[in-house]
Amino acid sequence: MKLSLLARACCSSMSPVSLRKYSQNQVSQHRRPMISSQIKPQIPLFLRPPIYSLTFSDLQKWQNWAKTLASSVGSSFQDFDHGPDSTLLRRELNWLMEDAIEDYSTTSRPGGCESRQKVKVRVDLEELYGLWKQRIEERRPFQYLVGCEHWRDLVLSVQEGVLIPRPETEMIVDLVCELVVENDWFKQGLWADLGTGSGALAIAIGRVLGDYGRVIATDLSPVSAMVASYNVQRYELQDKVVIKQGSWFEPLKNVEGQLVGLVSNPPYIPSDHICGLQAEVSKHEPRLALDGGLNGLDDLVHLCYRASSMLLCVGSLSSATTITNGEEQCQFLVNYMKSDLGGNFCYVKIVSDFAGIPRFVTDSPRAENHNTVKDGALKTIDHFLTLL
Ligand SMILES: C[S@@+](CC[C@H](N)C(=O)[O-])C[C@H]1O[C@@H](n2cnc3c(N)ncnc32)[C@H](O)[C@@H]1O
Repeated sequence: MKLSLLARACCSSMSPVSLRKYSQNQVSQHRRPMISSQIKPQIPLFLRPPIYSLTFSDLQKWQNWAKTLASSVGSSFQDFDHGPDSTLLRRELNWLMEDAIEDYSTTSRPGGCESRQKVKVRVDLEELYGLWKQRIEERRPFQYLVGCEHWRDLVLSVQEGVLIPRPETEMIVDLVCELVVENDWFKQGLWADLGTGSGALAIAIGRVLGDYGRVIATDLSPVSAMVASYNVQRYELQDKVVIKQGSWFEPLKNVEGQLVGLVSNPPYIPSDHICGLQAEVSKHEPRLALDGGLNGLDDLVHLCYRASSMLLCVGSLSSATTITNGEEQCQFLVNYMKSDLGGNFCYVKIVSDFAGIPRFVTDSPRAENHNTVKDGALKTIDHFLTLL
């Protein structure tokens, strides 16, 4: 299993270590979405106004304390559950300071500040101590501390209740780009991103589509739908990307059979494996985003089964891409799509991620088929704007 939590393109990996077992009760409780009308998007730390001021010596005292705490971890987290070691934690500490201090370059330069000089920061001193304690003592993910994750060329807002987007998912956008640059059909059509989380895939795909291309993204989690909408607004893509809260295809009823492509990174971790993941993931990331049922395939199978009825020209001119937990799940899905859903998917293949691990199952038409766009189908594209 490979679901790792990586910070600013720097890895802290994890793998399954069976430590504790979740009771069935806990599983079902975690799969239930959190519903609250009070939820608000958390503004990423680097975007908050620098309204606090500290003396440079207080800042240094905090930094030394935080460094010592990070160093005390050594390789203990890594040995226990493949969590971050002190080298990575010290790097995160620098990133935290970069985001929290208005003029980080001056304060980080040797001799850049005098001890009584005031430094403008975006959180007060007490919160700085609190945040770093949460990072080390509670293993709260760094991305939740600073409220964002760097992903491709985006900086996405994230918070508790929303999956932190992973680097391996970035490649789905490359797969879509390949189709989009080759053919206007994909560039100007309607795409779906199912289980959008922070909106990462929907936003990245929205940015590569043409003037008429659109993305509808769904998520069952109200927090994810809210954060994804916030990210869409931050990137000023409201005209291109629509976020809908609801289960998988349910919010897409009025565009059934009209998608040119769909992508999804659904939950795919077998339920029993979750408690063995690194604490940042198992204790803090939403169960709803991770738990794929007994063998991790529940949502993957459902999505593949329903995908064909949602796509415009199944098997000839439409594209479906989904991310999996590795070779075993890929192979299962390919067999399922070819034999049980035979006829609906004509170009099913497995694509490996950057590490060479079979990761994606795609059904994308070959380039030579791209020009056989059907008239009736193209007419539908004219209506996307009204449908959204
Ligand atoms: C592995 S996360 C992927 C998030 C995001 N696409 C990414 O790659 O960063 C799976 C997402 O599916 C959502 N999800 C789980 N069950 C769902 C359902 N029945 N309908 C829609 N979304 C669901 C979760 O809330 C979570 O955001």
